[in-house]
Amino acid sequence: MLRLDDVHSGYGQSQVLKGISLELADGQVAALLGRNGAGKSTTVKTIMGLVPPRRGAVLLEGRRIDGLPPSRISRLGVAYVPEQRRIFSYLTVRENLSIAERPQSAWSVARLCEMFPRLAALMRQRAGTLSGGEQQMLAIARALATGPRLLLLDEPSQGLAPSIVDAVVDSIAEMRSGGLSILLVEQNLEVALDLADSVYLIDQGNIVFSGSGRELRMRADLQARYLGVET
Ligand SMILES: Nc1ncnc2c1ncn2[C@@H]1O[C@H](COP(=O)(O)OP(=O)(O)OP(=O)(O)O)[C@@H](O)[C@H]1O
Ligand SMILES: [Mg+2]
Repeated sequence: MLRLDDVHSGYGQSQVLKGISLELADGQVAALLGRNGAGKSTTVKTIMGLVPPRRGAVLLEGRRIDGLPPSRISRLGVAYVPEQRRIFSYLTVRENLSIAERPQSAWSVARLCEMFPRLAALMRQRAGTLSGGEQQMLAIARALATGPRLLLLDEPSQGLAPSIVDAVVDSIAEMRSGGLSILLVEQNLEVALDLADSVYLIDQGNIVFSGSGRELRMRADLQARYLGVET
């Protein structure tokens, strides 16, 4: 579905990604883990075309998308939920979903209501008045409404209470069952290990480990070194 080959990118003078290679198979979840400032968000922004790659290739189903503008990449079926969620605060929940919905999407507003019953009850509320967890669900639902093949999720569990994190995890698992491919950026190791078919650790703009969640679970050394997990 998605492949990055030796991708370099950055901002102005600063080089952030120093040769990222990763692969995400169709219908799978890959997690990208690493400390603050490691380059996780830069990686998803580079895939989305928001930060232009300086070297290397980004391939979506074998087709190169690096160098394309974000709007084209979006129309090719890539949806992005940024860290800050970026919903339209002054629009209602329904309006946020309706303006995102594309006719060919498998995720109609009706289906999204079934998937996120909590949102269904809040359709007429202004999005800016939702709780953090509700806003995260809305941001994910809105991305699905565009009918993506590939979903880029940047730290969906960030700042949420544990029970809400569980609900977000359930919804991501349901999306995967629906055949969606997902690249999940996480700092919450448990969330990533719960969901991911494969895991990548990033540090200072380099991939320093790739493998299965099971492998990473056994590697306390890597968790301590790259994620600051206490042993
Ligand atoms: N717009 C920008 N301009 C300049 N430098 C930036 C910009 N965005 C990020 N950076 C720098 O790039 C590096 C990687 O940032 P990035 O946001 O990719 O990290 P991250 O792994 O997502 O971290 P976090 O876990 O805190 O979200 C950091 O050193 C950061 O300061
Ligand atoms: Mg980030």
